[in-house]
Amino acid sequence: MQIKDIDKTIFVFLTRFNKLLSLVSPLRLLYKRYPISSYITNPALISGRPRISLGQGVHIRDWARIEAVDGVGGEPGGEINIGDNTQAGYYLHIGASKNVTIGSNVLIASYVYITDHDHGISLPNVPYMNQPLKSAPVTIGNNVWIGEKVSILKGVTIGDNCVIGAGAVVTKSQPEDSIIAGVPARTIKKTKNRIQK
Ligand SMILES: CC(C)(COP(=O)(O)OP(=O)(O)OC[C@H]1O[C@@H](n2cnc3c(N)ncnc32)[C@H](O)[C@@H]1OP(=O)(O)O)[C@@H](O)C(=O)NCCC(=O)NCCS
Repeated sequence: MQIKDIDKTIFVFLTRFNKLLSLVSPLRLLYKRYPISSYITNPALISGRPRISLGQGVHIRDWARIEAVDGVGGEPGGEINIGDNTQAGYYLHIGASKNVTIGSNVLIASYVYITDHDHGISLPNVPYMNQPLKSAPVTIGNNVWIGEKVSILKGVTIGDNCVIGAGAVVTKSQPEDSIIAGVPARTIKKTKNRIQK
């Protein structure tokens, strides 16, 4: 074995080991849905498991922070739904205080942030961390490719087949088949890649 292959060998071993750990974890039983064909390896933090639902064949790589926030004052907590065969890279962060729904066959690169809420900022003399959340659901369609270091903010709907360029901050909804980039993100062109489900 060549020296340069050692890193790769360790990487493959750790990936398989983490998949195995995910497969046998009793925490799987706490999720709303977590089929045997899906895995989240070595997460940093998962909260609100009973409100998190994964489709078949969902793969989420290491250091994900996935939070379905508890409801306050009798409100229902946030829900997170991820469709079949959706794949996410390292350091995915999803925060849901109402609802984040991601479709099927969605490709998510590393360091992606998806949130359906902000801290309130309107009350004077109240620290931001203590202000009530402002929330609006986020929906991402099927066959969407989300590039590296993208942020998708509250109230945004992304249509089927969209591509979101690296580093984009998506503040407004985008129609299907759009290629989106920039801060704030705008449609730069349309794609011909159309897979409805
Ligand atoms: C969005 C993307 C797919 C577009 O690729 P493309 O169709 O080849 O686009 P082009 O290179 O023709 O760029 C078109 C225009 O958009 C701009 N643009 C492209 N990507 C951009 C981005 N991420 N942010 C801002 N502007 C971008 C280009 O500068 C160009 O502008 P111009 O017309 O003023 O010169 C690609 O640029 C990208 O961001 N890919 C994501 C890579 C990634 O995160 N990979 C992770 C692997 S899972």
